[in-house]
Amino acid sequence: MKTETTAGMNRTGMDMSPIDAKEVVAGATVMPPSSAGDESAIANLLAHYARRDERVGTMPPPGTLKGAVKAAVQALKGEAPLVLLDKLGERLAFERAGSRLWKGVLAKLDALGSFEGGPTREEVERIYQDEAAHFLLVATMIRRLGADPTAETPLADVHGVASCGLIQVVTDPRTNLADALEAMLVAELTDNDAWDVLIELVQGLGDAQIVAQFQEARAAEARHLSLVRAWVKASVLARAHGDGRSMGMPAS
Ligand SMILES: [Fe+2]
Ligand SMILES: [Fe+2]
Repeated sequence: MKTETTAGMNRTGMDMSPIDAKEVVAGATVMPPSSAGDESAIANLLAHYARRDERVGTMPPPGTLKGAVKAAVQALKGEAPLVLLDKLGERLAFERAGSRLWKGVLAKLDALGSFEGGPTREEVERIYQDEAAHFLLVATMIRRLGADPTAETPLADVHGVASCGLIQVVTDPRTNLADALEAMLVAELTDNDAWDVLIELVQGLGDAQIVAQFQEARAAEARHLSLVRAWVKASVLARAHGDGRSMGMPAS
């Protein structure tokens, strides 16, 4: 049975053709870069555009906040209400993406089976349920603050773009369960950090119930992280020990 660590027809390395490799090295010394300068030109260009007064997005005008909310967010000073809503928008986007990603993992597990030390169907299903519940919790919170959970905030946009690669890994037909879990480790690390900041922000609201609900979500993320870490480790070790079946590979 083949696993992705089986030696195959990978021709990406220069060592595949030592004769051509010599020519490539010689060519690199003969042909100078096509344009003058170094990487500072790239940095200067990035800096030039970064200095323009243009953001990846804006927040909906604060005037849309309802009266009830105003009372709640009055506890927060200055820009804090908008920062909180931006951060909540980000969490909403990421938890939604996270629940879909875990559904994708579940599909791989159903198709390929799990591996020694890997997740059970129930464990993955439970994480999916957690993420979906987090999504609803954040949406409810945004509504409670009188804001619109359907608005894409700047940070929601940033995180949406950042998680594109994770979605590509999980949905790629050539990746197996272990590959998908590598991507989910990135997602869960982000989940954990983001809830930490959010909890600090909502503490300013002076609402113990919200803080408690967010801390519960944070605790769930800590559980997800330790599980995914263990699964990733098990998958790598199993592969190192030559157990091809351990990768959730299709039987063939
Ligand atoms: Fe979550
Ligand atoms: Fe999570």
